[in-house]
Amino acid sequence: MSPMILYYSKSGTTEKLATRIQADLGCNLLKVEPENPYGNYISAVIRFLWESAKGVTPKTRTAVPNLKVHDIVLIGYPLWGGDIPPFFKAFLQSTDLSGKAIIPFATSGGVGIEKSVGTLRSICPNSKIIHPLHVGRMKQDNYDDWLSIVKKSE
Ligand SMILES: Cc1cc2nc3c(=O)[nH]c(=O)nc-3n(C[C@H](O)[C@H](O)[C@H](O)COP(=O)(O)O)c2cc1C
Repeated sequence: MSPMILYYSKSGTTEKLATRIQADLGCNLLKVEPENPYGNYISAVIRFLWESAKGVTPKTRTAVPNLKVHDIVLIGYPLWGGDIPPFFKAFLQSTDLSGKAIIPFATSGGVGIEKSVGTLRSICPNSKIIHPLHVGRMKQDNYDDWLSIVKKSE
């Protein structure tokens, strides 16, 4: 039962982490992308704030995957407004993750991963959310310690 990685990355930081995890666990990964890319930092922030204010959730260009053979799904994202980017959250809601162990990993400027872990708990009530990994610019969890814990749960 190999793990699977689902992730979004706008500017490459989360992607770098996702590919490192992929190499270390030897598993598959799928990048989930919005129909229209968010562009540079400033335009992404402006669009994100506008969409949040209007309650607009962009569509995703990535097809919902069949995760039947995967018991463990690692879910990676940059923190936007301290949480999962809304289009990616909507994608996760349409993906059948019930009965699976979900391992979140997130990158950010400074904000912590806790709020997004709560979001995952509320949108995936039938999954077990375990071993979150946060990599912020100033403060980060120890990757090697995290990896050895994850390897034990495989
Ligand atoms: C729209 C938007 C909102 C963001 N909101 C936050 C935030 O609330 N807190 C924070 O620490 N960083 C925030 N960031 C910074 C990103 O979380 C951070 O740069 C992340 O590592 C980028 O990952 P990526 O290169 O995989 O896209 C935001 C970035 C963008 C584009």
